[in-house]
Amino acid sequence: MADKSASLSMDEKSFDYPVRAGTVGPDVIDIRKLYGQTGAFTFDPGFTSTASCESAITYIDGDKGVLLHRGYPIDQLAENSTFMEVAYLLLNGELPTRAELDKFTYTITRHTMVHEQLSQFYRGFRRDAHPMAVMCGVVGALSAFYHDSTDITDPHQRTVASHRLIAKMPTIAAMAYKYSVGQPFVYPQNDLSYTGNFLRMTFGVPAEPYEINPVIERAMRRIFILHADHEQNASTSTVRLAGSSGANPFACIAAGIACLWGPAHGGANEAALNMLREIGRPERIPEYIARAKDKDDPFRLMGFGHRVYKNYDPRAKVMQATADEVLKELGISDPVLDVARELEHIALHDEYFIEKKLYPNVDFYSGVILSAIGFPTSMFTVLFALARTTGWVAQWNEMISDPDQKIGRPRQLYTGAAQREYVPVDKR
Ligand code: ACO
Repeated sequence: MADKSASLSMDEKSFDYPVRAGTVGPDVIDIRKLYGQTGAFTFDPGFTSTASCESAITYIDGDKGVLLHRGYPIDQLAENSTFMEVAYLLLNGELPTRAELDKFTYTITRHTMVHEQLSQFYRGFRRDAHPMAVMCGVVGALSAFYHDSTDITDPHQRTVASHRLIAKMPTIAAMAYKYSVGQPFVYPQNDLSYTGNFLRMTFGVPAEPYEINPVIERAMRRIFILHADHEQNASTSTVRLAGSSGANPFACIAAGIACLWGPAHGGANEAALNMLREIGRPERIPEYIARAKDKDDPFRLMGFGHRVYKNYDPRAKVMQATADEVLKELGISDPVLDVARELEHIALHDEYFIEKKLYPNVDFYSGVILSAIGFPTSMFTVLFALARTTGWVAQWNEMISDPDQKIGRPRQLYTGAAQREYVPVDKR
């Protein structure tokens, strides 16, 4: 029972609402009875003040720049754990023991192949299709292939569907890439790590052995971990909303992928690299800073700013260090990295950015790394979707198991015409 309450006065009546406290972070005012009692809705487009659910998976303190998964700081996970450990943690709430990890890894690797007929699906797409369009279609199509794991009322089927999604996503993403470049699909190899296997399926060819570079493998592992979950962001909320109607998990994850594609969300890494390339050299930065500040110019510094972080995004710090490591390993001296560093330095000292608390986000440096590894920009958001599938699946499972779960059905402030009589076409 809540011991705090909040009161609201309306039409000379007062109403009390319980205030619930989480483990850490802001309290919430439980307004579920508000409409019944007052006949009014709350109005919060963009959900800037709304907690849409209760969750025990991820915690963000945007002012302090803190990101915790099940209590563990993101930088510790990115530095020390494997992607399988993080996936297990997100799904099950605790880091696995050695035996639990071995069992989980074994289970995931037994699901890495996709139904052979699914490969025919790719042929329906144009070779120049954006791989995110391919991902939306192919992941949605999984529900037509795996009928034995679409009954969401059966916990066993939910687990199988979750494992399938985490296991197959690297295969599906690598196939989307291979299709776009006209190379044969490469089957998964289960004795490799999650990221090593993905790198081989993406960059390997059947004609010769593929050697995994441990620095690149580690960079990819970090990138996947940094993107694994992020609380109730737009795509995760989309997955939850789609799932709230009882839709099957494959369809829900396809909905999440569609939402992630947008440039304000997962598409920002692609946009950030394009912007850095367009700027081209440090001397041109002031011109772009001026454009970002100009109210009449829709231009924004991509990879800057975040709805929740009003401090340095903790993921961006790990990303910056990883960019240095990868470029050094590959012996690349990319002027884009110089532009990125200089742009960050200038923006962090500029009054406009300081006042609005705009800091680099996770996407600011990720494009530089991914491009150095050899991914085309169109694949960046696909990699994000691959990694975020783990978080989506964990959040979806949490929602389905929540006894308070209801179909998500927001209301609105109606400002259209009031009721009026139909006028026949000749009299209008
Ligand atoms: N460049 C310049 N100005 C900015 C930027 C930016 N990147 N981001 C926000 N602002 C300004 C806005 O113009 C606005 O100014 P105003 O108050 O004078 O109108 C103010 O800062 C607040 O911005 P909002 O758009 O209201 O903030 P919101 O929380 O809705 O947006 C968002 C967050 C979408 C991430 C925004 O910062 C943005 O568009 N950034 C660029 C895209 C990007 O990098 N997205 C990746 C997000 S991280 C992720 O999805 C993994």
